[in-house]
Amino acid sequence: MRYSEDIIEEVRQRNDIVDVIGSYVRLQKKGGNYFGLCPFHNEKSPSFSVSGMKQMYYCFGCGKGGNVITFLMEYENDTFAEAVAHLASRAGISLPEQSEDREARRASEYKAILLEIQKHAAKYYFYQLKSERGKIGYDYLKGRGLSDETILKFGLGYSVPAANEMYQYLKKKGYTDEQLKDSGLVRIEERGVYDKFWNRVMFPIMDINNRVIGFGGRVMGDGTPKYLNSPETPIFDKSRNLYGLNIARRTRQPYLLICEGYMDVISLHQAGFTNAVAALGTAFTAQHGLLIRRYTKDVVLTFDSDGAGIKAALRAIPLVREAGLNCRVLTMEPYKDPDEFIKNMGAEAYQERIDQAMNAFMFEIKVLRKDYDFRDPAKRTEFIEEASRRLGVFRDELEQDSYIQAVAKEYGIDYGMLRNKVLSIPLSAAVPVTEKPKEASGRKREKDEGIRAAQRMLLTWLAEEPRIYERIADIIAPDDFTDSLYRQTAVLLFEQITKGTVNPGEILNHFIDDEGSYQEIARVFHTGLNEDATKEERNRAFRECVIRVRRNSLEKMADTAEDFKQLQQIMQEQKALEQLNIYLD
Ligand code: GTP
Ligand code: MN
Repeated sequence: MRYSEDIIEEVRQRNDIVDVIGSYVRLQKKGGNYFGLCPFHNEKSPSFSVSGMKQMYYCFGCGKGGNVITFLMEYENDTFAEAVAHLASRAGISLPEQSEDREARRASEYKAILLEIQKHAAKYYFYQLKSERGKIGYDYLKGRGLSDETILKFGLGYSVPAANEMYQYLKKKGYTDEQLKDSGLVRIEERGVYDKFWNRVMFPIMDINNRVIGFGGRVMGDGTPKYLNSPETPIFDKSRNLYGLNIARRTRQPYLLICEGYMDVISLHQAGFTNAVAALGTAFTAQHGLLIRRYTKDVVLTFDSDGAGIKAALRAIPLVREAGLNCRVLTMEPYKDPDEFIKNMGAEAYQERIDQAMNAFMFEIKVLRKDYDFRDPAKRTEFIEEASRRLGVFRDELEQDSYIQAVAKEYGIDYGMLRNKVLSIPLSAAVPVTEKPKEASGRKREKDEGIRAAQRMLLTWLAEEPRIYERIADIIAPDDFTDSLYRQTAVLLFEQITKGTVNPGEILNHFIDDEGSYQEIARVFHTGLNEDATKEERNRAFRECVIRVRRNSLEKMADTAEDFKQLQQIMQEQKALEQLNIYLD
């Protein structure tokens, strides 16, 4: 469902960002901005800043940024429509009602009821764990080494062995049979009504905003099934949530640990590894990868050491790569899983294993190696051929060469021979593992980054001091911004400047569908100029920046020039550009 741009902009303007964020985060005025502790990552001193003038927020610690609408989307986990509706009602604006709109509202109200039910259930299970009847569950958890603090932190509970006590309890709260059926907590059949969870220790599953969305229940001992999990419901999508992410998202560590089980997550957190998460009784999916990417670019897989765990890791690796994440794999041998490892070896030893975790590609080759008996020269050759096929998929020469060297060294293969072998593999025979999206290599990457930095800097400058637009208007046009995100931003910003009102918060509206984009633009607008620089330094930096942006654009034009005359013109302009006399003040 879409509102018109005008409505969105009105809603945004009528909700002052300082007021809105101030109701969630304690803010203190410092200079022209407000500062507070970032709600999106864990910190002790404030690096989260809110600008009333720009109507934007930006965290210098974790890089989250945006406008008042994206704040609600991220803080409350609202959809775009929900955030707009929320802000509209806050400002007393009535949104145009559409039939779709009413339906969306009904759906969201129904979800709220289902969430309420899960919350009541979690409280009930938690309460039972501490009761006489729940002693067996409490003793089980204590027997597995969990502290009271951990039990509380994860809200662990116990479901009593009674046919339908949960049903009765929730019924008394006023929920209908249909709602209770949809909650996944009870089964309503002709023969009677049954609670889904019965005599199990209960693990509430929370979304990133600490709302209970489902449960896992474990038998105490060896019964089957070992775990029962809530079915998927309108509020419980197993491929879009991860166990422990509500806590791990605030970690200070630059990476997340991905493990297999609830118990692994809990014992890792108890041992101080509060960056551990796990899938919810299902395999790791591509969506999980994308979810993680919102928080970090690096993951360490810490899956069980047995055959099933290795298989699960091999399946997860390409998905993690596809999401653009760097992936390493940790081994817990001779122990089976993180829980067992920590119990036997302790947290320090586990940290060592993290530090030594193997590059995911090298892990894949190591697993492959197990299928070949090197005492048989024919098998060794086969292994080298198979490994070469896998090495053949790298697109970047430098990267490929690093891997060739690593494999040659690890398996005692002559480097030159392996390299020749790999280069002789036709592209079609390379094993099609998906690679992380490639970036340009080495020097080119550095140059591109430098040019993007200059384009960014120019946008920062213009947003901060719009009056300098006059000085560059004849030299720089939006098309000179070769980065497409910056180009779109330049179009919007130049338009605002010529109209006489600069409004960064409004520009962010245009990128609201893409978190990466609005965050990056928030960063550009929020960076602020270096106030300590001398006048000469500022002038020089400004001139270099303008020249760099235009020069790059001219180079691109020269590459695609149609005829000689055009090329001559470009070259003339290039020469003139180097003599450019431009200054700030
Ligand atoms: P412990 O064995 O008690 O240490 O728990 P764990 O969390 O380490 O479990 P395990 O390694 O056996 O399994 C990993 C995860 O797979 C669990 O956390 C569950 O999410 C899921 N799982 C395990 N057994 C079952 C089962 O019988 N049914 C379902 N649906 N999921 C299961
Ligand atoms: Mn396990």
